[in-house]
Amino acid sequence: MSQEQWNAVDQYFTDQLAPADEVLSAALDASTAAGLPAINVTPNQGKLLHLLARVQGARTVLEIGTLGGYSTIWLARALPEGGRLVSLEYNPVHADVARANLAHAGLDAIAEVRTGAALDSLAGLAAEDAGPFDFVFIDADKPNNPHYLEWAVKLTRPGSVIVCDNVVRGGAVIDAESTDATVRGTRNMIELMAGNPRLSATAVQTVGSKGYDGFALARVLG
Ligand code: SAH
Ligand code: DHB
Ligand code: MG
Repeated sequence: MSQEQWNAVDQYFTDQLAPADEVLSAALDASTAAGLPAINVTPNQGKLLHLLARVQGARTVLEIGTLGGYSTIWLARALPEGGRLVSLEYNPVHADVARANLAHAGLDAIAEVRTGAALDSLAGLAAEDAGPFDFVFIDADKPNNPHYLEWAVKLTRPGSVIVCDNVVRGGAVIDAESTDATVRGTRNMIELMAGNPRLSATAVQTVGSKGYDGFALARVLG
């Protein structure tokens, strides 16, 4: 199995099931033009997030890590009339690109980007009683994943879904001795998921145009 083959299969499924439209293409083009790194979820992964939010019946979504708003668009498009999405982004340039992309997508009334360190914004959301969120997507700085998971549990309700991107770390997630802060953060988050009786969780390994990676998925229990 090669990256070339994963790309070809990803392309096939994307063409069939998650084809780009003008809004999604424009969001990626604007992100590239602004010099943002191309670390957004793939189209198939965006569609997966969209479907998970839909299946869950989400009316409110919290995203941690906006970048140019590509995953944000997929998630916001899952929301019904009157739905609300809040996405947290540290980098003001990324946040501005995302806001423009969401406006172009006609989603700016539904989706709000808050600039700042996510840990500060999360405390702010709690202080203003902004929850509970039905769906949380964690996709920011990986060393903070344990903190993001704790906040996600606080800001959700029984039945909410929490998804975390990039949990495989090229396979290094199994290395208990790793000194890599992204691996340690991911492992600590997985262990919190495992140990929290209010969470039922699993993780899936993925291959595709972003290589070998995976998602952790959790459901909040009563
Ligand atoms: N979810 C996006 C990709 C996010 S990339 C998509 O799939 O389209 C990760 C983002 O997290 C980057 O934009 C980065 O600037 C942001 N980030 C990094 N550290 C952060 C922090 N402490 N608080 C909030 N955002 C942060
Ligand atoms: C990186 C971050 C991501 O969220 C991702 O999906 C891929 C790569 C990164 O920081 O390199
Ligand atoms: Mg990611």
